Amino acid sequence: MNTATLFELPRLPLPVRVLFTGYLLAIGVGLLIAGAQIMLTHGMADGKPGLSVDDVVYSYYGNRTNTRLESALNGSMQGYASDKDRATLITWARQGAPISDWEPTIQPIVEQNCVACHSNVPGLANFTQVENLQARAEVDTGQTVASLTRKSHIHLFGISMLFFGVGLIFAFARGFDPVFKSLLIAAPFAFLILDVLAWWLTKMQPGFAWLVMFGGFGYSVASTFMIFASLYQMWLMRVPELVAAGSSVNAQPGTPTAS
Ligand code: HEC
Repeated sequence: MNTATLFELPRLPLPVRVLFTGYLLAIGVGLLIAGAQIMLTHGMADGKPGLSVDDVVYSYYGNRTNTRLESALNGSMQGYASDKDRATLITWARQGAPISDWEPTIQPIVEQNCVACHSNVPGLANFTQVENLQARAEVDTGQTVASLTRKSHIHLFGISMLFFGVGLIFAFARGFDPVFKSLLIAAPFAFLILDVLAWWLTKMQPGFAWLVMFGGFGYSVASTFMIFASLYQMWLMRVPELVAAGSSVNAQPGTPTAS
């Protein structure tokens, strides 16, 4: 019996277990809320609830076949212009909304079909100004490099701190094969780096979207397992066999026994 058994999760002094438990519970709740937030922001990117590969593609790579103007003209605004006028507007949007076409062709169509609402109704884009229409004719290229850079380092710094704490606590779990335990402790970090790397790959190549989901899924599963295993060992696991072994370790004051 060596002193290492003293530091096993089921044997930690009560105050330390309370500290670890508070930390793990807060992080567990945080993970759940983070999951809900992903569903609400990215999950709806393709217009359908639930997170899919398409959502990830639209979020990072963008929906490049479509501009907001085109989507609206094929969607809720369809009834407000003739098919011919809609086709003209869509072609203009796909060409990048050149200003040279505004006065000769686009402005008359918009004046006739759109500005009745899109000029003076509060909350609606004002299409008497060409910039407002051009802004909706921009190709959606997903996250900008600036926002992705910011998100990447915040994610790497912030989340690795959480995994550090979870891994440190789980390092004191008893009964796991050391190699398996080490792999499990390393997994969230590896998945996290993979996940962030996959954001950038997806921004360039939509085919990598599944890697984003794989990374996020991987670190969620690995950290959830460590959180539950640690909580179980601290509060529910009974370790009578070591008590019965009667080594001097168990006689230490302040060491919680299983009885
Ligand atoms: C009868 C009023 C009305 C007319 C006419 C109308 N719209 Fe709209 N438009 C709305 C309303 C209300 C919304 C917001 C709700 C929605 O998106 O369905 C909207 C939203 C939009 C949006 C998406 C929101 C945004 O800001 O990106 C676009 C693009 C758009 N309209 C373009 C047009 C174009 C182009 C025309 C002319 C062919 C047009 N609309 C005619 C009422 C109108």
